[in-house]
Amino acid sequence: MKIQKLSGTFGAEVADIDLKEQLSEDDLEVLKQAFVDHQVLIFHDQQIEPHHQLAFSKHFGPVQKLYAEEHRIPDCPEVVVLTNEMSDGKPVGVVAAGDYWHSDLSPNKTPGLATFLYARKLPSEGGDTEFADMHAAYDALPNETKKQIENLRGLHAISKLKNPRVEVTRPGGTEYYKKQNSIPDQAHPMVRTHPVTGRKSLYVSLRFTIGIEGMDDAKAQPLLDELFDQQVKSEFIYRHKWQIDDLVMWDNRSVNHRASGGYDIGDIRRIHRTSTLGDEPF
Ligand SMILES: [Fe+2]
Repeated sequence: MKIQKLSGTFGAEVADIDLKEQLSEDDLEVLKQAFVDHQVLIFHDQQIEPHHQLAFSKHFGPVQKLYAEEHRIPDCPEVVVLTNEMSDGKPVGVVAAGDYWHSDLSPNKTPGLATFLYARKLPSEGGDTEFADMHAAYDALPNETKKQIENLRGLHAISKLKNPRVEVTRPGGTEYYKKQNSIPDQAHPMVRTHPVTGRKSLYVSLRFTIGIEGMDDAKAQPLLDELFDQQVKSEFIYRHKWQIDDLVMWDNRSVNHRASGGYDIGDIRRIHRTSTLGDEPF
């Protein structure tokens, strides 16, 4: 197995590994270390089926079943289909997923740990996924801001309708999000400590963080704007241009991401997703 760091602050490509195979304990240990060292791992040319993806994902925590049943692979329900494909006028997977910067499942008390995406079909252009290094974004904050946010907690909301910074784009989305309006916001430390490395990261996101616990919006919203600007500075971003059979995994404890879109509705993109459950942020 070869691990080649990307040129930026984070991310690495892993070569000479076949994710169909049962991995040795040694290989797994190397991969787990690479995962916390680099936060985003990219594997090209993987010819894997959903059960291979599931088996691999399980090495990085308990795999969660997400989204509605009709969007999962029938005999492998932990694998969710993200796609714009239609069948009999109905979407066969989750459409327009992840279109604003976020960390997966942050509105949960115990958010996501690792997310794995595997590219089965790609549009002729667009459909990139962007990643942002939240350790680097935190490290580069002015000391004054670091002090200011040290003990603050961000409020994370699942419903897009509670967040004036985002728009509902998917068909039927307003009805879908209305049902989530009653779900209470989840508070998490804005400065998160990585449980394995002890490194600090900026744990807020444009998609999910709508306020700051115990702080008036007049003060909280400008501070959030400042942090959101910090998170998307170009030096902290890696943009993944997908190739068929790429598998990309990342650490939601220290990486934000978004789907950048930019492809036509008839230009098919199909991605298989698995996600593992993390622990409570501290
Ligand atoms: Fe996501």
